[in-house]
Amino acid sequence: RNLELEQQLQAHEWTSKLYHFLLKNTEHGKPAMDYLKSRGFTDKAIDTFQIGYAPARWDTLVQFLEKRSFDLGTMEKGGLLSSKQDGTGYVDRFRDRVIFPLHNRNGKVIAFAGRVLGEGQPKYLNSPESKLFSKSRTLYNLHQAKAEIRKSRQIVLFEGYGDVISAWEAGVHNGVATMGTALTESHAAMMRGLADEVIVCYDGDNAGQAAALKSIPILESLGFTAKIALLSEGMDPDEFIQKHGAERFKHQVLDGAVSSVKFKLIYLKKNHILLEEDGKVAYIKDALEVIAPLPSPTEREIYLKEMSADLQVSFDSLKQECNEMRQAMQ
Ligand code: CTP
Ligand code: MN
Ligand code: MN
Ligand code: MN
Ligand code: MN
Repeated sequence: RNLELEQQLQAHEWTSKLYHFLLKNTEHGKPAMDYLKSRGFTDKAIDTFQIGYAPARWDTLVQFLEKRSFDLGTMEKGGLLSSKQDGTGYVDRFRDRVIFPLHNRNGKVIAFAGRVLGEGQPKYLNSPESKLFSKSRTLYNLHQAKAEIRKSRQIVLFEGYGDVISAWEAGVHNGVATMGTALTESHAAMMRGLADEVIVCYDGDNAGQAAALKSIPILESLGFTAKIALLSEGMDPDEFIQKHGAERFKHQVLDGAVSSVKFKLIYLKKNHILLEEDGKVAYIKDALEVIAPLPSPTEREIYLKEMSADLQVSFDSLKQECNEMRQAMQ
């Protein structure tokens, strides 16, 4: 069993080197390289993240692994190969895709994500869950970000590969990604001890903002200070950096990350129609549910004053309702 795991790890290491080599040094890899360049990935990023290319054939990896005497059944269990439907053998799992190796926190390759060049479904094909790889327990780039995270006591949490890589190139070296899935308690537990603060920098679309909201209680229950970065125009961090550059990303988006309370209020506001009276009333009720439990009276006052000015509702009536809610919560 342990031997199997050893062989799977060894094979992942070799495979990662093979795909990286094929991307950089072969004619087959050229369309993938062009695609990466068109997205703004530099040679340095391609090396730092060991990005590769899996050719559009069925047996590139099968032959490579066979030549190195790996047991193909073991390789299939490890997620590198797929069984043929008629049961007569194995084929490559990843074909004609840009390859992002996924590492465990010690820097060992444990899985791959393969992106189609351009449009196509699925956009990303991942290694299956196995003894080696569990998506809910893996944070992309943690192995490289660890040092900077320890130093800064801060983590920037992204959704995807491109976000981490573009941020890295922008000089943000404490970025990791949950790879599309919502943040799990296992993820948060992995970050514990390394940092005190997490800046959630998920995509600016509805799915990203909803996932950011869900991450707040998970982070706060483990004692992290959670801040949320806001992205305009529904962009993701990668798109923002490509469009507006590193400086604006660091100084506007990251430095401008808001407190979890502020984010909840912004989120609620976006999801109510404030032009209608009943929408306004409903928003106030939801917002007060966020503000009322805050232990600090000054903090409550600051948010209530902002709300009062923003909604043209008197501070006194907001405060009264807030206090009633607090009493009901005791
Ligand atoms: N993801 C996945 N499988 C998919 C779609 C997404 O595993 N079919 C994961 C990937 O880790 C991806 C992340 O979710 O990086 C965020 O998804 P999304 O925002 O849709 O993709 P991007 O990272 O923005 O992808 P790209 O920039 O390459 O289009
Ligand atoms: Mn290299
Ligand atoms: Mn997204
Ligand atoms: Mn995205
Ligand atoms: Mn993207």
